[in-house]
Amino acid sequence: MKRYSVIELLQSEKTIEDITLKGWVRTFRSKRFIALNDGSTIKNIQCVIDFENTNESTLKKINTGAAIAVTGNLVKSLGKGQNLEIQVENIVILGESDPEKFPIQPKKHSFEFLRENAHLRIRTNTFGAVMRVRSALSFAIHQYFNHNGFYYVNTPIITGSDAEGAGEMFKVTTLDIENTPKTEEGKIDYGKDFFGKETNLTVSGQLEAETYAMALGKVYTFGPTFRAENSNTTRHLAEFWMIEPEVAFNDLDANMDLAEDFIKYVIGYVLENCKNDLEFLDQRLQQEEKSKPMNQRSDMALIEKLQFIIDNNFRRVSYTEAIDILKNSKPNKKKKFQFPVNEWGVDLQSEHERFLVEKHFKSPVILFDYPANIKAFYMRLNDDGKTVRAMDVLFPGIGEIVGGSQREERFEVLKEKIDVLGIDEKELWWYLDTRRFGTAVHSGFGLGFERLVQFTTGMGNIRDVIPFPRTPQNAEF
Ligand code: 4AD
Ligand code: MG
Repeated sequence: MKRYSVIELLQSEKTIEDITLKGWVRTFRSKRFIALNDGSTIKNIQCVIDFENTNESTLKKINTGAAIAVTGNLVKSLGKGQNLEIQVENIVILGESDPEKFPIQPKKHSFEFLRENAHLRIRTNTFGAVMRVRSALSFAIHQYFNHNGFYYVNTPIITGSDAEGAGEMFKVTTLDIENTPKTEEGKIDYGKDFFGKETNLTVSGQLEAETYAMALGKVYTFGPTFRAENSNTTRHLAEFWMIEPEVAFNDLDANMDLAEDFIKYVIGYVLENCKNDLEFLDQRLQQEEKSKPMNQRSDMALIEKLQFIIDNNFRRVSYTEAIDILKNSKPNKKKKFQFPVNEWGVDLQSEHERFLVEKHFKSPVILFDYPANIKAFYMRLNDDGKTVRAMDVLFPGIGEIVGGSQREERFEVLKEKIDVLGIDEKELWWYLDTRRFGTAVHSGFGLGFERLVQFTTGMGNIRDVIPFPRTPQNAEF
């Protein structure tokens, strides 16, 4: 007997005899109707059993969460709510689930509770939908780059350079931390460590990706990155996934074009291919919005918002222009910002970014040409001597979703920057080599994958879009 998935059966144009189906019981009512889910789709399939011919002990084991196998026929349903259903001829309990103890009951659970049960929360509609969309986005990302002539590069996760300066790093060591070897000066002797030097988990694959772009032309990374910043927010993880394209001969304008085209493509892919999940998430969000005060509700429903991204150009605004807007904005004048905007040169906080995107422009925004001293050393200095060719893509509800730049390709300028910042040149000899041998204009950016998943699914907390979130004081599972 052929085994089918729920999605295959629900999409079937005709009735099918003699099928097998395996999955987990979502609900069981009236001793007759099992709603069965196998993860292939958000939809359950209704399995109708003949309870008079099913033994009592089996009936007792058809509980929410149990794994079962059914055989029978796919038939036209006479009831309301579904076109097709399974007329069950035989049912086997594969794995029991104690209804008193199974934490995921067919009722509404808080996301906090579900986070504590992250190993089981995937059996809910919401998390099933989010993780299927996450998977689809990931596929679309590879597909986009593949269609556009990019090569996928795997940059190291353990790194010996701390040059990016993107945040606190996690140390990697095999030294006995209770009893570390010491140098003559009394410092930890990393020469005795596994790699013979200090090493960390990477915060970004960019610097290594740049070396590959200078040979393969168009490359991208897609891997985990780690930041030990103590940010307990709805948008920060200590372990998150980042996509970093890097393209030789692209300037900042081409970099902005790439970011916009890329984001539109992957969101379009999900709109096209994840309809059922998005419709569910859209409904979920509308329910959630209803519980908020009127003035905090979003103007757009989820699917509408995704379509809006695809249909509209991202607004490109220089940092200087943005500062003018913020300085003269109502919340700034009324002292509503936690960080007032008084002068050119200040770093933008997420409240400022969100004001620009959600209140002022009401569209995604790409801010560019930031002050040099609030951005990383590798960004290309403009002729004004004070701004760099940086760009951040800002999204409604999320704030910064992409950070990138045109890179400083001039050896002398880069070298001077490194010296001024006191970065040890010896650590970056290989990076500087790319500017010594055949240097060229090049650009790239990093897209925070979970922030993209957050935006696409409408989930409020980044901890709910990655299977097992790592955050300060939390590395369960
Ligand atoms: O702006 P960031 O720090 O840029 C870089 O790391 C560059 N090396 C990228 C490049 O040019 N190749 O990080 C890029 C993006 C951010 O815009 C944000 O979306 C995400 O990574 N991000 C985080 N996501 C979740 N949790 C965190 N703690 C994050 N920090 C950054
Ligand atoms: Mg950034």
